[in-house]
Amino acid sequence: MVRVLRATEAELESALRSLRAGELVAFPTETVYGLGADAGNPAAVRRIFEVKGRPAHHPVIVHLSGIEQLHDWAREVPQSALRLAERFWPGPLTLVLPRAAKVSEVVTGGQDTVALRVPSHPMAQQLLAAFQGGIAAPSANRYGRLSPTRAEHVREELGAAVSVILDGGECQIGLESTIVAFQGRQARLLRPGAITAAQIRPVVGELEVGADEASPRVPGSTTVHYAPATPVILVPAGQIDSRAEAFSAGGRRVAVLAWRAPLASHSSVTWINAGQRAQQYGHGLYDHLRALDKSGCRWILVQDVPDAEAWAAIRDRLRRAAAAARPEEAT
Ligand code: TXA
Ligand code: MG
Repeated sequence: MVRVLRATEAELESALRSLRAGELVAFPTETVYGLGADAGNPAAVRRIFEVKGRPAHHPVIVHLSGIEQLHDWAREVPQSALRLAERFWPGPLTLVLPRAAKVSEVVTGGQDTVALRVPSHPMAQQLLAAFQGGIAAPSANRYGRLSPTRAEHVREELGAAVSVILDGGECQIGLESTIVAFQGRQARLLRPGAITAAQIRPVVGELEVGADEASPRVPGSTTVHYAPATPVILVPAGQIDSRAEAFSAGGRRVAVLAWRAPLASHSSVTWINAGQRAQQYGHGLYDHLRALDKSGCRWILVQDVPDAEAWAAIRDRLRRAAAAARPEEAT
């Protein structure tokens, strides 16, 4: 059972005070924890980039309390974008739209578009409703690392730099939001998430999938992203047992993230069975990778996941995590 918590009056007050003073506040969403700053205060948003170690041209998502704020931040909202917002907000969906004049270049990374999302987590809702303005927030991790799904992940990684960390329990979804960008009326899926292409397509009519030359840049789609420090190697599903055996030869310690139990027990292998249900697997993915990263193993072998659409966001994150590793070292 996922605990979903609400903020106390005192917590909320201190978070609001920090935001208004241009400081950073980490807060839970249903996807992952965000590192928030007042989106209307460019100096505060710049602080996010410093703390994350993130290049300045990477845009951040502006979080809003409700759909009624959409037109304050986007200068054009195609009908199909509005329908998506009505259907899926509050929830794990981000819309990339032409930015309104007031949106700072620091937020958009110098682009003419802005990413907007209304999260559903009750604590995020409380904070946004009380703050009234937009809260700019990327995931609350260092650049290129795994997104945090619990308050203690944020504390470990960014604790000293953040004024307030609101603890809303474990994030229900555990993977970042689905991103859909609009160029005119054309919708394009830039990042897969809990809301799938099959759910979006009937609402927008036609949906392109993946970035093209003209698409807005999505830095999360550069390869070395969402990665633990330990090299991740993606292994064809049927070979996971034999590869675990081979990699652990001579007593070398190897970590495995799989969707089933091992066929036989392997010595010196730390094996996590994350289950065969995509939702549950996605919920635990970053937490498991963090745990395996700390287990002192030389490699993390990941059993490749099914091809079905329910696994699309998971496949995407696993491929990025594996892209950072060099399997030729693994001899
Ligand atoms: O679930 C989420 O989306 C979480 C929670 C905290 O809301 N946030 C998150 O933020 O994942 P971040 O910064 O880690 O990823 C946001 C992605 C980045 O890949 C960024 O490049 C893309 O959104 N993005 C932001 N503004 C954009 C824009 N104007 N055009 C294209 N992509 C944009
Ligand atoms: Mg991120």
